[in-house]
Amino acid sequence: MKIIVCGKGGSGKSTVVALLAKAFERLGRRVIVMDCDESNPGLYRYLGVKQPKELIEFLGGRKAALEKLNKGSGPTFLHKEFFTEELPRECIEKKGNIFLITIGKIHDFGQGCACPMGAVSRKLIKNIKLKDNEILLADTDAGVEHFGRGVEEGCDIILFVIDPSMDSLILAQKVDEICRRLEKRLFYVINRANEKIARIILEKMKNKNVLAILPEKEEILIAGLHGEELKLKYLEEIIDIADKLLKLIHH
Ligand SMILES: Nc1ncnc2c1ncn2[C@@H]1O[C@H](COP(=O)(O)OP(=O)(O)OP(=O)(O)O)[C@@H](O)[C@H]1O
Ligand SMILES: [Mg+2]
Repeated sequence: MKIIVCGKGGSGKSTVVALLAKAFERLGRRVIVMDCDESNPGLYRYLGVKQPKELIEFLGGRKAALEKLNKGSGPTFLHKEFFTEELPRECIEKKGNIFLITIGKIHDFGQGCACPMGAVSRKLIKNIKLKDNEILLADTDAGVEHFGRGVEEGCDIILFVIDPSMDSLILAQKVDEICRRLEKRLFYVINRANEKIARIILEKMKNKNVLAILPEKEEILIAGLHGEELKLKYLEEIIDIADKLLKLIHH
């Protein structure tokens, strides 16, 4: 199962990815986490691992990576199906049964656009071959630009994180329309909502596929402020999402 997590800026995508990875691990899966967000670097901290070498860097930088993609040159994983083990060792950081791969980040002023990162993400999500007990979880940049770059082409499920804001609801509607055209399965997670807020959001969303409602947890904010690893115990509700997603594959 290849899952892409998306949503508005700051809605909780990376938090959900990190905790969902831990929930899948608890349920006995090997989890490949792909950081496809070219801006925010925080996911590795949420996972409690070191930042691996960026794949874009391994490919010789953004320009070289695009050339390799277009010319069919460079490592085979850019062009053919591959297993995680075939990726360069220095581009993977592992903790338990969670494996982090980072596509690439924008580090400096005037570095140019992030299209090469989008193109590499799209290829890798499409080409990666998962074994029976493996799950791919991809974290994305805020908004819908990654849809424009076709990053979702190879995924099975899109998980959209909604925070309590009108912008999130508008974006959710837009992504719903895109996913219908793409014929991709779309599910929602409502984040940072108490019962009263969740009821309002659910009413506005009508018959959408909401997998879970996650509360606001102080432990998550504090760990985030200290740059510390997120622990599954901070938000055990997320195990329910992992469980529902696993049942979806088995059906
Ligand atoms: N359920 C929650 N309870 C408390 N704090 C939360 C919760 N979910 C997310 N946060 C906090 O909200 C902030 C944004 O979360 P996160 O980085 O996961 O969002 P994001 O959607 O990945 O953001 P970006 O678009 O910048 O990548 C962080 O400070 C995080 O600690
Ligand atoms: Mg993020």
